[in-house]
Amino acid sequence: MTTAATRAVGVDIGGTGIKGALVDLTTGTLLSERVKVPTPAGAEPDDVLGAVRIVLSALDVTDADIPLGVAFPAIVKRGITKSAANVSQRWIGFEAEKFFEDGLGREIHFANDADVAGVAELRYGAARDTEGLVILTTLGTGIGTALLHNGVLIPNSELGHLQRSQRRRDAEAYAAYSAKQRDGLDWKKWAARLQWYYSHLEFLLSPDLFIVGGGVSKHADAFLPLLRLDTPIVPAVHRNNAGIIGAAALAVS
Ligand code: BGC
Repeated sequence: MTTAATRAVGVDIGGTGIKGALVDLTTGTLLSERVKVPTPAGAEPDDVLGAVRIVLSALDVTDADIPLGVAFPAIVKRGITKSAANVSQRWIGFEAEKFFEDGLGREIHFANDADVAGVAELRYGAARDTEGLVILTTLGTGIGTALLHNGVLIPNSELGHLQRSQRRRDAEAYAAYSAKQRDGLDWKKWAARLQWYYSHLEFLLSPDLFIVGGGVSKHADAFLPLLRLDTPIVPAVHRNNAGIIGAAALAVS
């Protein structure tokens, strides 16, 4: 008889940092400290693999018996990365899941970073028990999105790349947290950009709830009250750990 694992490791690869922790799958909480290393400049596959190895050994979880989920900031279809907005172009059409499995010498579960954050909020957070359409957005180096409809993830939405208009920047270049930092925007000026973004999503998709994740979600009080939307908008319960928790959760499903 096999018993379902109650713990798994989640590793969340982002455009700026690679974070990992051991996760309690019953409660969706971290069982270890969170280890974070910078994403290597250029985010080439070998360098990213090396950084993931560092995270796993710092966590002391190189044991292949503990399920491992890895989240990545790109479209992921059948283990293949299909886009590369904030990582090396080499990831496009790359057998990433197999690459990590070979490099780490173990099985992994591999998925898009925003999608796994959506799963974490669905199972253990702000999207639990919400009917209809929930859109989770991560505001970080890029903008990631997860669409959750009646508790089911519709994978690989890329609504951070909505085009603003011809020849102008896409949504993430205009409104991600990195755009706030790059352009030196205060909360009010950044919120004006977010207002455009969330209003546009609201018009296109008529969601029932927006959830805001990413590192900046810990400062949600500084910008969410400035937005005027018909749709409720709340920070991710698990803030920037949602990616780690969701990656771990998917590793055993
Ligand atoms: C990528 C998405 C990712 C998001 C957040 C975007 O640039 O295209 O796949 O989810 O960044 O990391």
